[in-house]
Amino acid sequence: MNELTKGKNIGIIGIGNIGASILRGLLATIADARFLITDVRKEILNAFADDSRVIPCDSNKGLAGKSDILILAVKPKDVGTVLEEIAPLMRDKPLISVAAGITTDELERYVKGGRVVRVMPNIGARVGESVSALCGGRNATTEDIALADEILSAIGSIYHVKESDMDVITGLSGSGIAFFAEVIDAMADAGVYEGLPRDLALAIAAKTALGAARLVISGDDPAAIKAMTASPGGTTIRGIYAMESRAVRAAMMEAVIEATKRSRELRER
Ligand SMILES: NC(=O)c1ccc[n+]([C@@H]2O[C@H](COP(=O)([O-])OP(=O)(O)OC[C@H]3O[C@@H](n4cnc5c(N)ncnc54)[C@H](OP(=O)(O)O)[C@@H]3O)[C@@H](O)[C@H]2O)c1
Repeated sequence: MNELTKGKNIGIIGIGNIGASILRGLLATIADARFLITDVRKEILNAFADDSRVIPCDSNKGLAGKSDILILAVKPKDVGTVLEEIAPLMRDKPLISVAAGITTDELERYVKGGRVVRVMPNIGARVGESVSALCGGRNATTEDIALADEILSAIGSIYHVKESDMDVITGLSGSGIAFFAEVIDAMADAGVYEGLPRDLALAIAAKTALGAARLVISGDDPAAIKAMTASPGGTTIRGIYAMESRAVRAAMMEAVIEATKRSRELRER
């Protein structure tokens, strides 16, 4: 199953929110690889000290030299500094960048025409439920894409997309998971308002969201879910009326549209 990553050294630079989530997801699903990690905040690396498959490295250059494939998970503003430092070591190995708004052209320039794959994952990686959109740069080989596919499918679902779609996917998925978390939290607050203990309200809100998502994934149209739930004069249509009066759909659309705009701004900075 994990044929391409078997025996490989997978390097991850930047063990922050997404880097740590990807690492946790990979540790849970890929048994036969080693993970080389660096971060400027050395204390972060201690969280993985108990796992013999995780090897903290002293420098990004040291990590790049020993890795077969490298995942770059630093903030967009730090991408240039890191890649300029390790570029000479990246000639014969693929780079996966998860940085929002940094194009494959830009990544290739930093690594002097190297093999790059651009990915937009989300924090669901932590529990094997990332949605990862990916596109290869001009020099990425079929094997590089297959290796990236294997790594990313170990942390959730993957979609091959056009690079021009990356900004909207950043809004819809990279940021979108936080929008759903906000909705779940708000629904749980309503449960608390009506007298439920918070942990019960939160669990029920989250599992209700999961049920809706699973129905949609299994082929039910969202409108059909509404039709199946909203009986005439019943509770659901009353709640939907309240949502419509507050323009909740427009607000959710705006959240994704604004996040998409921000992704474009980061790219055009
Ligand atoms: N968070 C998400 O949900 C998400 C989703 C999809 C994509 N992304 C992308 O993933 C990237 C990382 O985001 P994040 O939220 O995980 O950021 P983060 O939590 O700040 O993690 C980045 C880590 O990299 C470290 N770092 C900075 N410069 C470094 C260097 N030269 N060498 C080694 N480590 C270095 C940072 O340390 P300092 O804090 O000390 O600088 C930090 O610990 C971003 O480009 C973002 O666009 C994030």
